[in-house]
Amino acid sequence: MNLPEREIVVVGSANIDLVTRVHRCPKPGESLIGRSFMTVTGGKGANQAVAAARLGAKTTFIGCVGHDAFGAMQRQGLADAGVDVTYLKTHPTEPTGTAVILVADEGQNAIVVTPAANSGLLPEDIIEIEPLIAGADAVLLQLEIPLITVEKTLDIARKHSVLSVLDAGPAQAVPAALLAKADLVSPNETEAEALTGIAVASLDDARRAAEQLRAAGAPEVVMKLGARGALYLGDEEIYATAFKVEVVDTTAAGDAFTAALALAWNALPKRPALRFANAAGALAATVPGAQPSMPHRDAVQRLLDQVAS
Ligand code: RIB
Repeated sequence: MNLPEREIVVVGSANIDLVTRVHRCPKPGESLIGRSFMTVTGGKGANQAVAAARLGAKTTFIGCVGHDAFGAMQRQGLADAGVDVTYLKTHPTEPTGTAVILVADEGQNAIVVTPAANSGLLPEDIIEIEPLIAGADAVLLQLEIPLITVEKTLDIARKHSVLSVLDAGPAQAVPAALLAKADLVSPNETEAEALTGIAVASLDDARRAAEQLRAAGAPEVVMKLGARGALYLGDEEIYATAFKVEVVDTTAAGDAFTAALALAWNALPKRPALRFANAAGALAATVPGAQPSMPHRDAVQRLLDQVAS
């Protein structure tokens, strides 16, 4: 796959993930014994930055961590992955964001995020890096930082005609006006339901949700459908099937997908771009943890070569 050199700016959250593997998620009021515990670097923004860098993009991450050991761990993890952390802020008082994650035996997860320092990423931080955004090929955002910061970033990207990709996670209702400011909006099934009220259990549901998002102003929509693949809706409709892999942990699989999408969008035709994103997402689900599971470009290429399109 011939992808040109791409420069990506990721504006988003950085968390440390406290992950317990469980046989199944507990019911309210129930205590369970976990199988194992690990502490790994995560956060939708930082995950996507690591994925973009491992997939070959020159990547800069804009975020905010605490003045603590978790913040240092995150900064080091990003730098080790080749991400430029020049503009990663340190919050003077708030601790680094955390995510408490339960991963059940079948690979599904439940996540509670405490944003903490992530709340300190503000519109003025984005105004300061306007020239960086203006020179990028794409800006990648999620919804784990203040929405006013997301909005400011989208405004600046549009002002400079830079592709903006909005990952609509974590699930929440956001104003239609915000969706309209992004070039490409990408929710998973749960996020699509939070945005549209449509429960996405089939391809038809996904199509209806995507149509509703477009009617609300989102110019183009890519629905992440997990084991069912991905659905694009814009001036045409494209459905791309998923790659079959042995799922170990789906945490951050969507992050790998969206990063790959931002890298390939406008650089490849839409169908191969969706396939590239599906391959990256699938590989992420085969490895435990968030950032540890973000795939490298050569692994994605091998999977693409193994499975005929
Ligand atoms: O998308 C997965 C991520 O969501 C985790 O790494 C966690 O930190 C939360 O942000």
